[in-house]
Amino acid sequence: MELGLKGKVAIVTGGARGIGGNIVEGFVREGASVIIGDILSDVAQELAEKLSKGGTKVLAVKTDVSRKSDADNLAAAALKEFGKIDILVNAAGIVRDTLFVDIEEEEWEQVFAINVKGTYLASRAVVPHLIAAKQGKVINISSRSGKDVPAGLSHYGASKFAVIGITQALAKELAPYDINVNAVCPGIIRTDMWEKILDTRSKRTGVPREEIWSRMMDTIPLKRPQVPEDITNVVLFLSSEVSQNITGEAISVNGGARMD
Ligand SMILES: NC(=O)c1ccc[n+]([C@@H]2O[C@H](COP(=O)([O-])OP(=O)(O)OC[C@H]3O[C@@H](n4cnc5c(N)ncnc54)[C@H](O)[C@@H]3O)[C@@H](O)[C@H]2O)c1
Repeated sequence: MELGLKGKVAIVTGGARGIGGNIVEGFVREGASVIIGDILSDVAQELAEKLSKGGTKVLAVKTDVSRKSDADNLAAAALKEFGKIDILVNAAGIVRDTLFVDIEEEEWEQVFAINVKGTYLASRAVVPHLIAAKQGKVINISSRSGKDVPAGLSHYGASKFAVIGITQALAKELAPYDINVNAVCPGIIRTDMWEKILDTRSKRTGVPREEIWSRMMDTIPLKRPQVPEDITNVVLFLSSEVSQNITGEAISVNGGARMD
């Protein structure tokens, strides 16, 4: 299937590593230029240099998505370098695994500042340019926890529900401009994020890390470990005109662990 992404310009927040990093690689494979907006500027720079060797331009811009000035600067850098923005992928996110009664205010606010306000700020900076161009795609990385929240992830899950809420309203507001807005909800992928959850959950419950992981795997009907490419494939599809009649959706990609 021809996705027609050659020559497109995509911003990927949280694109230095993990799922976001894989999405960046996917865009480059398809011939799109990418601007990575990530707080891990050295890691993002290294990836940008590696991927730029193939001829496609990848730029890294140090960005804390919870800061308005950084989000505005990210959009401005993309316009300065490429003269347009076609696609925004909001993948930057953090997780904290803490029982509700133990969550301190600062931790609650940090999760919301990055996962929710970060999605708002990056979109707020980019969307006016998509409206002016009367075309574009916004893809927000939510989570299975944005539909069904496990114990320990109340703040994370609530933030991912919020990401789906933003997706739905924005999809309605931007439909008249031919702009599609969708969310993708990954299941469990063993990135740095999950290593962190295994650490804290194991300490809290006394269950060894690998046992927690294998119990999680047992809940997946397809019984195959999910990999970042599973998410990238859906993001590339949603970034293309092949999916032009899909908007406001929160697409689950989780091996059947939750069906909706
Ligand atoms: N791994 C999973 O199983 C899983 C499941 C569901 C949803 N997700 C979501 O997928 C996205 C990517 O997660 P991942 O597993 O690749 O995690 P990760 O920790 O490997 O990557 C997250 C990236 O976001 C960046 N980031 C964090 N705070 C930032 C900030 N303030 N500004 C800019 N960048 C920031 C990090 O530097 C990192 O590059 C997240 O939104 C996460 O919630 C992951």
